[in-house]
Amino acid sequence: MPAPRVIPVSASSGDYEVVVGPRLLAELGPRASRALGTLPRRVLLVADRGVPQATIDLALASLGSEGCSCAVALVNADERDKSLAAAERLLLAASAHALDRADLIVVLGGGLTGDLAGFVASTYMRGVNVIQCPTTLLAMVDASVGGKTGVNLPSPHGLLKNMAGAFHQPRLVLADLAALDSLPERQFRSGLAECLKHGLLAADFGDPGLWTWTLARLPRIREPAILAELIERNVRIKATVVGNDERELHPSAGRALLNLGHTFGHAIETLPGVTPEAPGGLAPPPKQPTPPLPAMLHGEAVAIGLHAAAVCAAACSPDAGPAAMLVQDVCAALHAAGLPAHARGLPSDDVILDRMRHDKKMLGERLRLILPVPGGRSEVRLDVPEVALRQALRAIRAKET
Ligand SMILES: NC(=O)c1ccc[n+]([C@@H]2O[C@H](COP(=O)([O-])OP(=O)(O)OC[C@H]3O[C@@H](n4cnc5c(N)ncnc54)[C@H](O)[C@@H]3O)[C@@H](O)[C@H]2O)c1
Repeated sequence: MPAPRVIPVSASSGDYEVVVGPRLLAELGPRASRALGTLPRRVLLVADRGVPQATIDLALASLGSEGCSCAVALVNADERDKSLAAAERLLLAASAHALDRADLIVVLGGGLTGDLAGFVASTYMRGVNVIQCPTTLLAMVDASVGGKTGVNLPSPHGLLKNMAGAFHQPRLVLADLAALDSLPERQFRSGLAECLKHGLLAADFGDPGLWTWTLARLPRIREPAILAELIERNVRIKATVVGNDERELHPSAGRALLNLGHTFGHAIETLPGVTPEAPGGLAPPPKQPTPPLPAMLHGEAVAIGLHAAAVCAAACSPDAGPAAMLVQDVCAALHAAGLPAHARGLPSDDVILDRMRHDKKMLGERLRLILPVPGGRSEVRLDVPEVALRQALRAIRAKET
């Protein structure tokens, strides 16, 4: 069995490790003890309902072997349930299990469960220890690392993503590759969108070859050694970005860059009736019983958002040739990853632009967009003209038949 890969994360509020490898959940208890320096008496395990019971049992058995008293709270991985009401339920579960400040919340699930339970850990008793055990590719390469937690808020414009939240770094992230065995293919591909996003900004964060490396390996991406390297390299990018700018305070070169694709993506992700256009060239879905999926997955919205950002960049660029090539590259990469570049059922441009202006990535009155630049870089732009935004929205509309 290959040795686990360990990526250090250094944040101003604390250092921790991301460990990537096979069968790590069986070592959760001892690794938690080591990370915390002492064994927590009580643990609230917050688990995603979609995670198989056997995976939950593995985590519980390992924590139990260290003598922890564990309670389990299950979470619906549904953006409508990434809510203050769900956070309240979890806070009450922590209180009912008599968790105190020295105790621990363990998250076992995708990015949604991680954001929600991380938010609960940041507020229960003004902050308790949390360990993230991501079970989706997206959560492994992105959401579990960096300490952003939060819930969505309702509004007349629809759900506003992650509008209430806190920065609360985990004490350890344990990415058990075996947890991905049960992940539906479409969810796995959704995680690849964040990997492509990282590839489009990696040159400034120590890995200029990530985009090309990822594209060349997409056909074999689920092979264990390739998958482990993919996760490690993406976590290193995220760790570097977060280490430089934990609280997204840098105006132009820091954590804000990770929002590439997200301003467009968040605006369309939770719109009723909007669906991703099925990308061409997909392998048939695996024959496994899967729970009903939401119309648009987070990574799919990000994928479409990457396409929009590339078109926007081309519309703003004085150098039309390379910028147009980048649009083609991004679309080809999305296609190869089995991700959509277009959406069906989008409302009018005005409705989408209005939602974009309600995103928390606004800077005062100005829309802050992250746009890719040829050569594996991205930049923060506050001056994108409306005509470029409209061009991008036109480009991501699927041709309605
Ligand atoms: N905090 C951050 O920095 C950050 C970064 C990116 C995304 N996010 C957030 O992450 C969320 C998306 O996360 P996601 O893509 O992981 O999706 P998710 O958490 O919504 O989970 C996707 C689906 O997979 C199921 N699932 C999870 N693990 C499974 C497993 N091992 N086997 C079978 N089914 C499994 C879930 O039940 C759910 O149906 C969004 O809410 C997004 O806003 C946060």
